[in-house]
Amino acid sequence: MKSQDVYFVDGVRTPFGKAGEKGVFWNTRADDLSVKSVLGLLDRHPDLPREAIDDVAIAAANQKGDQGLQLGRSVSILAGLPTTVPGYAIDRWCAGAMTAVTTVSGAIGIGAYDLALAGGVEHMGHHPMGDGMDPNPRFLAERLVDPSALNMGNTAEKIHDRFPHLTKERADMLGLASQKKAAKAYEAGKIQADLIPVSAASPEGFKLVSKDEHLRPDSTLEGMRDLKTPFRPHGKVTAGNASPLTDGATMALIAGETAVKKYSLKPKMKMVSFAFAGVEPEIMGIGPIPSTEKALAKAGLSISDIGLFEINEAFAIQVLSFLDHFGIADDDPRVNQYGGAIAMGHPLAASGVRLMIQLARQFEDNKDVRYGMTTMCVGLGMGGTVIWENTSYRGK
Ligand SMILES: CC(C)(COP(=O)(O)OP(=O)(O)OC[C@H]1O[C@@H](n2cnc3c(N)ncnc32)[C@H](O)[C@@H]1OP(=O)(O)O)[C@@H](O)C(=O)NCCC(=O)NCCS
Repeated sequence: MKSQDVYFVDGVRTPFGKAGEKGVFWNTRADDLSVKSVLGLLDRHPDLPREAIDDVAIAAANQKGDQGLQLGRSVSILAGLPTTVPGYAIDRWCAGAMTAVTTVSGAIGIGAYDLALAGGVEHMGHHPMGDGMDPNPRFLAERLVDPSALNMGNTAEKIHDRFPHLTKERADMLGLASQKKAAKAYEAGKIQADLIPVSAASPEGFKLVSKDEHLRPDSTLEGMRDLKTPFRPHGKVTAGNASPLTDGATMALIAGETAVKKYSLKPKMKMVSFAFAGVEPEIMGIGPIPSTEKALAKAGLSISDIGLFEINEAFAIQVLSFLDHFGIADDDPRVNQYGGAIAMGHPLAASGVRLMIQLARQFEDNKDVRYGMTTMCVGLGMGGTVIWENTSYRGK
């Protein structure tokens, strides 16, 4: 085996739907959403021999029912990949797809693999957060974690407690900016370019879903100000500054330099470094801070070298805590140029690849930017960061 550079060749996703009976994907299986993402991705690479795919890693945070049959393998079979192509399921809750990418990248980097598919799916309608989980009673009995650590909204309220200068108004403004930036990105066709429309069953027949369902382009600060605070009376986290419950799937094609040359691929990003890190579970949202510090150190870069950031907006407060730590303004134009999870939704284990898809497209439009970052927080107190180099970089 020979070590090699690792590339994000391409990525796609399904539109994201509202979780629940009224959502567009209520009558669509999670594994079928994932199949769509695989087919949509491979359709963009008709000449790539399917049998050359060394592995398929697909994440879900809740691995049962229509997300339970060892997704990597079952989705590969359902997508019609050759039976010789293996696959596996992966889980790191919200960072599932990110971990799928970093895991296959490790295998590619040491030369064990040349090509892999990595992505995630979450049908939060079919699998509400925490459904069927049986946390060990020791967690609470032995005070291993604070009781609030098991509810993500509570962890966001806890960050507000810890950093009072990161006010609700700042969180609402970030939520509003996410909606406005997403609307602008849609107007410019930046999002649709990587969406795979899905024909979804509904009581009225099949409907073609070609847009994220949660978007609220007409949001106003006034309209958001007095929304209920579902996680705590008189709290700060609302539906306006939190990511909504979402159904959706993502998929990426990851390749080593050998495959890039052999199949004449045109990769969009080169992996520079990645890191995961742990923090106190009850303030899990600050996880991206140490994971970013680790990833920067491994890359030999500093935060000022990063020209574009894709930060998952699980909650506005968690993004604010990251920006505050690194001395970046709330409205820095390098951050989440197309908006984020507050506007588009956050189908837990799928979101990591959405961040990569958006960063890759921004790289194409910003050829003077060399490095970018995808980062996200993870339940039970973790963060993940991947640093990427722009393959379109033309120098300053
Ligand atoms: C915050 C949360 C509880 C809200 O759930 P919900 O109440 O079902 O959300 P809704 O979409 O119905 O919105 C609630 C209300 O806010 C309103 N609203 C939402 N966003 C708004 C906006 N941008 N502007 C104005 N109103 C808005 C809705 O219209 C709705 O109003 P209504 O009650 O009058 O109908 C839910 O989205 C949640 O749990 N999010 C976090 C998910 C999570 O933890 N993910 C993992 C992260 S680690």
